[in-house]
Amino acid sequence: MSEGVSKERGVGLGTEELAKAGLKFELDSISEGAVATVTLNRPERRNAMTGSTWRGLARIGQSLPESVRVVIVRGEGPSFSAGIDLRTFTPEGVPGEPPIMRTDGTDAELDAGIKALQAGYLWLRRPGIVSVAAVQGHAVGAGFQLALACDIRILADDAQLCMKEPALGLVPDLTGSKPLVDIVGVNRALELCLTARSIGAEEAYRLLLAELVVPAASLDGTVADLVAALLAVDRGAATATKALLQQARENTLEQQAAAERAAQIGRLRALAAAARATAAG
Ligand code: CAA
Repeated sequence: MSEGVSKERGVGLGTEELAKAGLKFELDSISEGAVATVTLNRPERRNAMTGSTWRGLARIGQSLPESVRVVIVRGEGPSFSAGIDLRTFTPEGVPGEPPIMRTDGTDAELDAGIKALQAGYLWLRRPGIVSVAAVQGHAVGAGFQLALACDIRILADDAQLCMKEPALGLVPDLTGSKPLVDIVGVNRALELCLTARSIGAEEAYRLLLAELVVPAASLDGTVADLVAALLAVDRGAATATKALLQQARENTLEQQAAAERAAQIGRLRALAAAARATAAG
């Protein structure tokens, strides 16, 4: 652990719970807690994920310190994540892990169960933070969806993305279907999901699924440079801009123009208030 990084400070899970979830949480103290790093930390299983992982991610989102402006999501070891722990589908299940949910429950119970897992992914879209996925090696199924939940994806040149769910008789249900379609369109999304083929980093870049592709050895450095650039922008402007961009696709031109005006009025008032405060000493 490098100097200036404190482990698990300010997040609602203890070390043991995080370890059980296969997660690590770090808050960067040099930036006064502006940067949080969430690490998928089960490298010996290629960061395979369980119900505890998804519930742990949701808890991190719920208890994220106010100071955090950028969240880096990364995986330890050779792969970002091999997706769901496949032992989930065996009669024995994952050792020490309760079943994800009872499949003999009512539809309402299953709906609530899946919704609780989706919460682990949804918070990464919050306007007050920028989420950055640093992806090396494989990002399969739930792992690919986690990368898709982030605002910006930086891929190592060895990255392989795969939406494996339909091949297992399932659908992508961890909030990945919308960003996938938003980015690549329905037809390409269909082809990727229904063939469950892996996309290499260069193809991912061509399909706009990656903002940058870098040599694997440069992944951490590139992410650090990006984070520095993101932190250099005024926090209020960053939040307002993300909120504005997030609604642009669904809005009509008139609605978006109105949203721009409302957001800009907010910014102008904030800048004027800051100038008055500076003048007043
Ligand atoms: N669940 C449990 N264990 C896994 C795992 C997974 N998803 N993926 C890998 N592992 C384990 C392997 O069993 C192996 O364990 P042992 O050392 O005890 O044999 C160890 O991790 C290393 O795996 P590999 O030797 O296979 O590593 P690799 O680097 O050669 O290959 C990989 C990496 C391509 C990701 C490959 O492991 C793989 O294909 N894994 C399965 C991926 C998969 O099908 N995931 C399900 C996606 S669907 C989903 O996630 C959606 C959902 O919610 C339902």
